[in-house]
Amino acid sequence: MDALRIRGGKRLKGEWTVQNAKNAALPIMAGAILTEGKTVLRDCPRLSDISDMGEILRTLGCGVHRDGGTLEIDPGGLCGYEMPEELSKRIRSSIFLLGPILARFRRANVSLPGGCEIGLRPIDLHLSGLRQLGVQMEEEGGVIRCDGRNMHPATVHFDYPSVGATENIMLISAVSRGETVITNAACEPEIICLQEFLNEMGADIRGAGSEKIYISGVEKLRKVEYTIISDRIFAATCAAAAACCGGDVLLKNTEPSHMRLMLSMLRDAGCRVNCTDDSVRIRACDRLRGLGKIITAPYPGFPTDAQAPFMSALCTADGTTVFVENIFESRYKHVSELVRMGADIIVDGRLAVITGCNYIQGARVCASDLRGGAALVVAGLSAIGDTVVDGAEHIDRGYEKIERVFECIGATIKRV
Ligand code: UD1
Repeated sequence: MDALRIRGGKRLKGEWTVQNAKNAALPIMAGAILTEGKTVLRDCPRLSDISDMGEILRTLGCGVHRDGGTLEIDPGGLCGYEMPEELSKRIRSSIFLLGPILARFRRANVSLPGGCEIGLRPIDLHLSGLRQLGVQMEEEGGVIRCDGRNMHPATVHFDYPSVGATENIMLISAVSRGETVITNAACEPEIICLQEFLNEMGADIRGAGSEKIYISGVEKLRKVEYTIISDRIFAATCAAAAACCGGDVLLKNTEPSHMRLMLSMLRDAGCRVNCTDDSVRIRACDRLRGLGKIITAPYPGFPTDAQAPFMSALCTADGTTVFVENIFESRYKHVSELVRMGADIIVDGRLAVITGCNYIQGARVCASDLRGGAALVVAGLSAIGDTVVDGAEHIDRGYEKIERVFECIGATIKRV
């Protein structure tokens, strides 16, 4: 297993081209099986979550090839409606394939996803959406057998705007006859990206980015070449690192409108933030200011995925910040590690109270989830002395060569 060794306290300066969004790529990869033609994804990040999804597609009979940044999916050999049990238990994103497989075969068997390091993450909203479309289900021994032979268009209402469930219903309805409407849909930029991708394949979808999405099913989708959006959480992680390391960092291939709230918080903390259409420049102040209350919420609220990296940056701010984590119930696993580095953080249920201290110190810490792991890297960059972050494989799920990113903008960081 890899670890990252960081010599902290260096000022970050320079520019970096932000990778494209893993969370946009995963549902799009699932959408590739809705057509018989090839899907070509340009500038698709090299991440273990992406290769795991590719592995599941291969198991289902698809051809998946990577050439540099280009990922090609050929669903010509798609032959099964049973999702491989081991892989789908291990990889939550396999759930994105449920809608597309049902669309292709009118049947799908899927194993219940296992527990997850950041909380329970059930799939009840995905299943409720499919039931509202007339899909029948029975569960036996942890496997859900779905029968979509009586599927019909409907208004699908979600009690909660789940990102993944919204995407699943968009995927299946894109090629199901009739008009489906999703109400209380998730509004994340990744949903707009999925709409754009499907429409380029010939689908007829409107409304993504709002709470109501209208999908007129079409008979067939065609092959497509597509470039996914930039990764706002990756950009937020780099911005948080720049903010607490006295940095001056230009992030290229960044969409500032997707990061409005995060950028305004960095400004409130004292940073200078300048944006163009496709870049963000962060210039840190001497010492960040605590931010009062940060509440994670569905988009356009503060993203739960940025909670951990921002928390690391605010450990050495002047004043207090209180996080209220409203999306996932166990998303404070990085806190005990930050406390080992000298941070003053008290957790009470969904609340985490951070009282800024003058400095944090390097330590040997362990990543136990993707964003929490990235947060430990941010902390290590700003700490005095050496930090070793064990469990780098968690970070590799969502950040392409994180050590290269920070090394290029002035950090001393090595994979060991
Ligand atoms: C997506 C993102 C993830 C991000 C999350 C919230 C991907 C691949 N992942 O995850 O990085 O943290 O959005 O912005 O895009 N829930 C249920 N039942 C369900 C589905 C979800 O109770 O059937 C709950 C979850 O446990 C969680 C909340 O709803 O508490 C939000 O989940 P959801 O929006 O579905 O997130 P994901 O799509 O899993």
